[in-house]
Amino acid sequence: MQKILIMDHPVVQHKIGLIRRKETGSRDFRSLISEIAMYMCYEATRDLQLSEVEIETPIAKTTVMELSGKKLAVVPILRAGLGMVDGMLAMIPAAKVGHIGLYRDPETLKPVEYYCKLPADCDEREVFVVDPMLATGGSAVAAIQMLKDKGCKSIRFMCIIAAPEGIEAMKRNHPDVDLYVGTLDSHLNEHGYIVPGLGDAGDRIFGTK
Ligand code: PRP
Ligand code: URA
Repeated sequence: MQKILIMDHPVVQHKIGLIRRKETGSRDFRSLISEIAMYMCYEATRDLQLSEVEIETPIAKTTVMELSGKKLAVVPILRAGLGMVDGMLAMIPAAKVGHIGLYRDPETLKPVEYYCKLPADCDEREVFVVDPMLATGGSAVAAIQMLKDKGCKSIRFMCIIAAPEGIEAMKRNHPDVDLYVGTLDSHLNEHGYIVPGLGDAGDRIFGTK
């Protein structure tokens, strides 16, 4: 059963309110995106597998818990997904990082692929695909299909703001991928932008436009 978790943490909701504001500049926007990604990663890794191992502290032998499931990978969808990588790595520093380059054609709103570089053992890892925005869902659906075509079997998707249309596209195309969503917005406008959203995430992170 596909998990769709919408964050209800008050700190996350507060920070999402700050990135929505049009007066928030690139420097603050970037650091907030990274902080939100770190909080979301905390939730998205809550069910990782643990096992008991015997260790010795300076005082006594004891049993501690150690992460024991698949190794992890973070895969941002370029460009805007890059803004979430540092926050993810703050929580899971041993993860490897792959990159998928997609941009949305402004006329057709369809994703256009321009880059793909993944860890060689990506198919054996638990993969966290990250992108701040899930609008039509075209980019996320395509990125996840690229990972599945490379043999990846355990994939989670994290976004900060989603439109209902994007959630539906993910449910239809990738019902095996759990979704971790910062907040769910109302709808898409005629240009495919999320309403109320935050505008163009890539432009706001990198100060382009
Ligand atoms: C944005 C965003 C997603 C995509 C979402 O990227 O970061 O990747 O749009 O829209 P969709 O769900 O309708 O596909 P964009 O194509 O603007 O590229 P950028 O990150 O390089 O700015
Ligand atoms: N991409 C963005 O960056 N923002 C949107 O609202 C939709 C797609």
